[in-house]
Amino acid sequence: MTSEAPLIEARSLAKVFHRRRLFAAGATGLRAVDDLDLAIHRGETLGLVGESGCGKTTTGRLLLRLIEPSAGRVMFDGHDLTSLDASAMRRLRRRMQIVFQDPYGSLNPRMTVGETITEAFIIHGIGDRTERQQRLNRLLDRVRMPRTAASRYPHEFSGGQRQRIGIARALALEPQFIVCDEAVSALDVSVQAQIINLLQDLQQDLGLTYLFISHNLAVVRHISTRIAVMYLGRIVEAAQTDALFAHPEHPYTRALLASVPVTHPSHRGRRLRLEGDLPAATAVVRGCRFAGRCPHVEDRCRSVDPELAPRPGGGLVACHRVADRTLPWSATHP
Ligand SMILES: Nc1ncnc2c1ncn2[C@@H]1O[C@H](COP(=O)(O)OP(=O)(O)OP(=O)(O)O)[C@@H](O)[C@H]1O
Ligand SMILES: [Mg+2]
Repeated sequence: MTSEAPLIEARSLAKVFHRRRLFAAGATGLRAVDDLDLAIHRGETLGLVGESGCGKTTTGRLLLRLIEPSAGRVMFDGHDLTSLDASAMRRLRRRMQIVFQDPYGSLNPRMTVGETITEAFIIHGIGDRTERQQRLNRLLDRVRMPRTAASRYPHEFSGGQRQRIGIARALALEPQFIVCDEAVSALDVSVQAQIINLLQDLQQDLGLTYLFISHNLAVVRHISTRIAVMYLGRIVEAAQTDALFAHPEHPYTRALLASVPVTHPSHRGRRLRLEGDLPAATAVVRGCRFAGRCPHVEDRCRSVDPELAPRPGGGLVACHRVADRTLPWSATHP
């Protein structure tokens, strides 16, 4: 943990999607992100994990203010993003970028690679023709693409190369913070490793801060300094990567880690199955949102919502029972 103020901070952040339903008396709101607190420190890679639909992408988009929050605030380097007007937001947006999952869908097929990467220079009025060309060359070098790629079109490249182009585009305005949303999930395993290495090298050279969203725990474990676990729109645990894998504390984290093959020998055979159903995100939840599936549930869990609170090891956990129990992995398994 650093004592410096975080680069990005979400405070009680919420996003409700309203679905219009024919003949329904009132619109039902889907609480994709619900009272979420999260801090991302300078220079770290924070991994964000959780089941499909738990709100990871929505969180990433809220942090960049690509979508408007229903409630709560996002602080970026001391600025309250949620209160900025359009022109102030445009200036700040240069400092934060996103790399998407789909290197096919996210590049315009009718623009050359050079046009794709330099588009932002033109929008922001950066440099003359010569300087733009020099910047383009430097960006292609950085992502280890040949400079000759500039005059070619996205379809001429492989998935991994297209993702390099997407990364070069994200780097064009020299951002501090990049959200990587499933940035390697669509790639072959060997290509995934190359892109992850590239992201790590770029982070070192440029001092970048990443939010790395992925459903792949092995990838997240490899790249992240710290990991936040999300369940139904909220962070339930956050800890340094090694600590999280060695001593997961929230029952949901334990279940999540146990649901995938874990390479560490001491974890072998200790599996915790998730019981019960994932509650609908439209339901109003009283108490802990994991209570319905938790093997350690007790009365207060169904009525009092647990806060995300510091733990002796330095992590944060939202669980009533975490402090008054010792729960070895095997204790819950017959
Ligand atoms: N624009 C939208 N309109 C309505 N509902 C949405 C919208 N975007 C997301 N949702 C809903 O919000 C919830 C969270 O979605 P989100 O995409 O953030 O999840 P995720 O954790 O990124 O999932 P995945 O791992 O599948 O990418 C889901 O129930 C999703 O259906
Ligand atoms: Mg997603």
